[in-house]
Amino acid sequence: MPPLTITAALALRDGASIPQFGLGVYLAKGSACVESIHNAIAAGYRHVDTAQWYENEAEVGQAINSASIPRKDIFVTSKVWDTNHGYEPATRSIDESLRKAKLDYFDLFLLHSPNPGKEKRLEAYRALIAAKKAGKVKSIGVSNYGPHHIDELVQHYPDDLPVLNQIELSPFFQRGEIVKKCKEHNIAVESYSPLGKGQFVDLPEIRDVANKYKKSAAQVLIRWVLQMGYIVIPKSSNPARIKENADIFDFELSKEDMETLGKLETGSGITWDPTKSA
Ligand SMILES: NC(=O)c1ccc[n+]([C@@H]2O[C@H](COP(=O)([O-])OP(=O)(O)OC[C@H]3O[C@@H](n4cnc5c(N)ncnc54)[C@H](OP(=O)(O)O)[C@@H]3O)[C@@H](O)[C@H]2O)c1
Repeated sequence: MPPLTITAALALRDGASIPQFGLGVYLAKGSACVESIHNAIAAGYRHVDTAQWYENEAEVGQAINSASIPRKDIFVTSKVWDTNHGYEPATRSIDESLRKAKLDYFDLFLLHSPNPGKEKRLEAYRALIAAKKAGKVKSIGVSNYGPHHIDELVQHYPDDLPVLNQIELSPFFQRGEIVKKCKEHNIAVESYSPLGKGQFVDLPEIRDVANKYKKSAAQVLIRWVLQMGYIVIPKSSNPARIKENADIFDFELSKEDMETLGKLETGSGITWDPTKSA
């Protein structure tokens, strides 16, 4: 495997690629959101994760359109919110996201969750396929999909499978069954809430490992996800923490420390879990 760098990209099953490391912007609002994206770009980030639900696509687009680097060099993801499932609503909502962000295309569009039920999510997924054909989005994927939801896509849209599944994932919640199913179909895994929304950064079991490398717990948690081969999108609006979270490409967790962290599985997460929905 080539050495990890801040711009290292993973090849996706549709031929596109995604920077493995990015910035989450849930709860980042207004000028603070624009500033945090500009700070992140200055620190080397090339990937931003937003969603219709976050109500900051306008700010994300504003930041991208006023950035110091070209649009094509930043990977931007958004997501269809649950209330926009169904073919027509999802199509309208993607157009609305593009309009709000003032972008010509998104690099990736996901269904935020499978919660609205089978019929509506399959129709929403069909809207993603059409949006890709129309050039509005470059790649399509899902979020919070469990193994049975992925099987459903394999059954209904075998030629247009999602490039990735964005799920809560950390050493404490490793999602073995979902990861296995994704690997079976060459669907990349993307970790959200890698810091447990900040709850994991004071835990002694992470700090003990971090001290060995003179790194912070947050840096170790993010690095663990990358070394597992997944995509990761830690969120921060704080300039120092945006830099800190990106300062993880000058060390490597040893095999033993990866294993130590791998033993922290608890079987439960810290946020919503739609992966088990019908
Ligand atoms: N698809 C989904 O259902 C879903 C669900 C949740 C999240 N996401 C995506 O994943 C992204 C990340 O997940 P998340 O926002 O839930 O949680 P997270 O990245 O695990 O944690 C973010 C929290 O940790 C704090 N933090 C960041 N860096 C830190 C550091 N170095 N030291 C101490 N605290 C730090 C942040 O505060 P400051 O901002 O003050 O630094 C913020 O409160 C989201 O922003 C969103 O894009 C997707």
